[in-house]
Amino acid sequence: MSAPAVLFVCLGNICRSPLAEAALRAEAAKAGLVVQVDSAGTGDWHVDCPPDTRAQAVAARHGIDISGYRGRQVTAADFRRFTHIFALDSDNLNNLRRIRPSDGGAALGLLMDMVPGREGSGVTDPYYGDAAGFDATWDDVTRAAMAIVKRLSSIRG
Ligand code: 4NP
Repeated sequence: MSAPAVLFVCLGNICRSPLAEAALRAEAAKAGLVVQVDSAGTGDWHVDCPPDTRAQAVAARHGIDISGYRGRQVTAADFRRFTHIFALDSDNLNNLRRIRPSDGGAALGLLMDMVPGREGSGVTDPYYGDAAGFDATWDDVTRAAMAIVKRLSSIRG
């Protein structure tokens, strides 16, 4: 089996999916799990931009520096490069289903489907809200990251 490679996809790639990327990197490191991790957006407005300063701040409060991350737009090739693609909400999941190429082997799903009791729900977009929204985002993506590590560890263990 190829090594797991996980891509998180939201709309802008400056708020939710970079935090999901940071959370999975942190949880995988704690667990000693080797996994490639990246994030992207379905939109192109923030290509080459660093994460929103409020996303950088919540990550920093948890000891993680995401200031070097840069936005990029998801591509059809991502479905060949990654083993798992997680959409942060159902709108982005629907858009990903549209761009998925016929030979794209990545498993595609909704991120919060990984968290018992949160199946079917999206991670709320904190972009238009206040800083507290980013704490809620961090909690959601951390729960999901822990569940992903557990799942990938059991597959590989
Ligand atoms: P994200 O949040 O999808 O979590 O990165 C957003 C960031 C920017 C925009 C929308 C959502 N925007 O419209 O620019």
